[in-house]
Amino acid sequence: MKKKPILAGVIGSPVAHSLSPLIHTAWAYRAKIDGYYIPIEVPPSFDEFARAMDALRTVGFAGVNVTIPHKEHALRYADKTSDPASIAGAANMLTFAGDDCYADNSDIGGFEEAFKAAGPAVSVEDRALVLGAGGAARAIVIALQTLGAQNIMIANRTEEKAAALAEAFGLKTAPWPECNTFLEAADIIVNTTSLGMTGQPPLELETSKIKPDAVVADIVYAPLETRLLQAASAQGNPTVDGLAMLMHQAAPGFRAWFGGEARVDQALRAELVGELKRREQQ
Ligand code: ATR
Repeated sequence: MKKKPILAGVIGSPVAHSLSPLIHTAWAYRAKIDGYYIPIEVPPSFDEFARAMDALRTVGFAGVNVTIPHKEHALRYADKTSDPASIAGAANMLTFAGDDCYADNSDIGGFEEAFKAAGPAVSVEDRALVLGAGGAARAIVIALQTLGAQNIMIANRTEEKAAALAEAFGLKTAPWPECNTFLEAADIIVNTTSLGMTGQPPLELETSKIKPDAVVADIVYAPLETRLLQAASAQGNPTVDGLAMLMHQAAPGFRAWFGGEARVDQALRAELVGELKRREQQ
């Protein structure tokens, strides 16, 4: 019987802007794998999500990535869950195998890989400052702890959310208006908020206070070089950008569903940067 193409995709709302189809298509092309990776818009409710997943399994999808607002729905829908997904309380990957649906979280490992590729190893003495307390912050806190960080401070506009995250993971909190005071002492700085993204307000940080060797990361990838990363690079600090995290989080899904090599390299980055530039010009 003729071998059928492998099907996978990304579920979200909105989802049209996702770069994941480009990443998976590039890897499939390189590995000469016959497959499609499709963006699928699913309205925000759990019921809509579950209906869409049932349909994709009927059609024979191998799995999907899941993005906002469905990461918690994915966890609820699955019948088996990896440890990182349970700890994060969210899944960005569902793998369908027969009657089983397995939830995993590669956002955590994606940050770890991107961080390891960019900077020196984390030492237990390092002080990390995480800005934001949403889903992305949660995954990044787990990643930083896995990398060995023991001293993590959370600063978030809504203090209750910072306190809840701190309570869950044994962290400290800093008042949002006093971010700059804590910036000076930080060895690792991660922006997990949407501030600095095209169309969003800027992230107001006194970047000249950043320590010379601090590793600076930003989940935002449009623009690719945020003001925070621009200032950090100009000072000679190691940086981790949103695109590096995005490429690394995509790799486990590609390996699981398409079964090929998923290399994060300069050629892939160049394709994505080209696409982001095209979009900027539109
Ligand atoms: P994600 O899952 O990507 O983390 P999220 O859960 O909506 O998305 O979290 C967005 C983060 O950006 C939050 O920490 C949010 O702060 P609040 O908890 O106070 O909402 C932060 N954020 C968004 N807009 C912001 C702004 N204008 N000023 C400060 N923080 C902002």
